[in-house]
Amino acid sequence: MAGRWGAGAASVPSGPTAVSLVGSTGSIGRQAVDVVMAEAERYRVVALGASRSVDKLAEQAWALRPEVVAVADAGLAGSLSAKVPPGTEVVAGADGLIAIARLGDVVVNGVVGFAGLSATLAALESGRRLALANKESLIAGAPVVQRARATPGAEIVPVDSEHCALHQCLRAGRVPDEVARLVLTASGGPFRGRTRAELAGVGVEEALAHPTWRMGPKITVDSSTLMNKGLEVIEAHELFGIDYDRVDVVIHPQSVVHSMVEFTDGATVAQLSMPDMRLPISYALGYPARGSVSYGAIDWAAGGHLDFETPDRELFGCLGLAEEAGRAGGVAPAWLNAGNEVAVAAFLDGAIPWGAIAEVVAETLQSCEQVPVECAEDVVEADRRARERAAKAVESRGPAA
Ligand SMILES: NC(=O)c1ccc[n+]([C@@H]2O[C@H](COP(=O)([O-])OP(=O)(O)OC[C@H]3O[C@@H](n4cnc5c(N)ncnc54)[C@H](OP(=O)(O)O)[C@@H]3O)[C@@H](O)[C@H]2O)c1
Repeated sequence: MAGRWGAGAASVPSGPTAVSLVGSTGSIGRQAVDVVMAEAERYRVVALGASRSVDKLAEQAWALRPEVVAVADAGLAGSLSAKVPPGTEVVAGADGLIAIARLGDVVVNGVVGFAGLSATLAALESGRRLALANKESLIAGAPVVQRARATPGAEIVPVDSEHCALHQCLRAGRVPDEVARLVLTASGGPFRGRTRAELAGVGVEEALAHPTWRMGPKITVDSSTLMNKGLEVIEAHELFGIDYDRVDVVIHPQSVVHSMVEFTDGATVAQLSMPDMRLPISYALGYPARGSVSYGAIDWAAGGHLDFETPDRELFGCLGLAEEAGRAGGVAPAWLNAGNEVAVAAFLDGAIPWGAIAEVVAETLQSCEQVPVECAEDVVEADRRARERAAKAVESRGPAA
């Protein structure tokens, strides 16, 4: 069972580890570049890729000298070719992203949203280690991703800080039989402790003001609704094979305890560090060896305290919706994820108020049609249908709070 989530499955490579960075221009991607550059003798970047950020991709290409750079927007291939160092191959379109996700010893998937599914599948189907930040691909595509994960050589090491923490804690016991429960910590986001009345008129700027993490806009909004934690409950279930009754969520505003595992003898093992995504990225790149550069080490002499509280599931309805979709299984998590992506984009565009995000997701889920999932196209079709339904739910509302 241990091999399913990674422990003992990998060996330490003898030369530099070849790394492919998919989504290299985003928050995760740029921090992955920092990690790789800080241990330049240990890692060699062979490929980079993003959606449209041509200037950032070119800047990274000059700094890292990869063999291939991919841009998902095919119309930007010419502009990128003119900017990268001579001899660098440029690939474009959806196939370009897939091509770079098949390269290297480790593929970092730092793409945001369902768009990351093809990179996740390509990395696993080609027997790579997948350093997975793009949780949406595992959640929405679980039936096909789990099949791809069985490819010889393939493994997922999570980059999401909570799951990276769980991955580390689980090394202390036998999975799943010695695990009593997984406890995911949540900062509670910018709206922790607010009343329903106080939440009624919150705007985009407030939702993007996360108290402990600096991340891309989509995950930051997900943190404000607790959808991020709901998605992470499903992610934990899929990564570690622990049933939903044994996955709990606790609010921990300091974001120092990144998650915990309670074992059957009553012992709780936790992973602690200051909030810094470079630590989980470094862990996923180097696993099973530890990185030699320290990120987020705690200064105990500085004092401080750690608080824990129960999440407010009534005010933050997305958490329960995600748990419900996870338990339903099949394509329900894909419908949940699509409904949420549409709702968050609408909120960021000013088309619906913050409180309508949970309503749009709930309405989308109500229409979920369970169908057998034989292949990736079935997941893509479920995502498409759910987006249609979610768009109608958005249209029927409006920007008024
Ligand atoms: N940021 C964090 O600290 C953090 C922590 C835990 C988990 N995560 C997860 O990591 C993932 C990335 O989050 P982020 O915060 O780094 O997002 P982000 O800052 O918005 O970056 C997104 C990246 O994905 C690329 N991208 C967007 N759409 C794409 C498409 N259709 N095809 C290919 N590439 C596309 C973007 O390229 P362009 O620049 O060209 O648009 C960019 O490189 C998410 O799944 C998130 O939940 C993030």
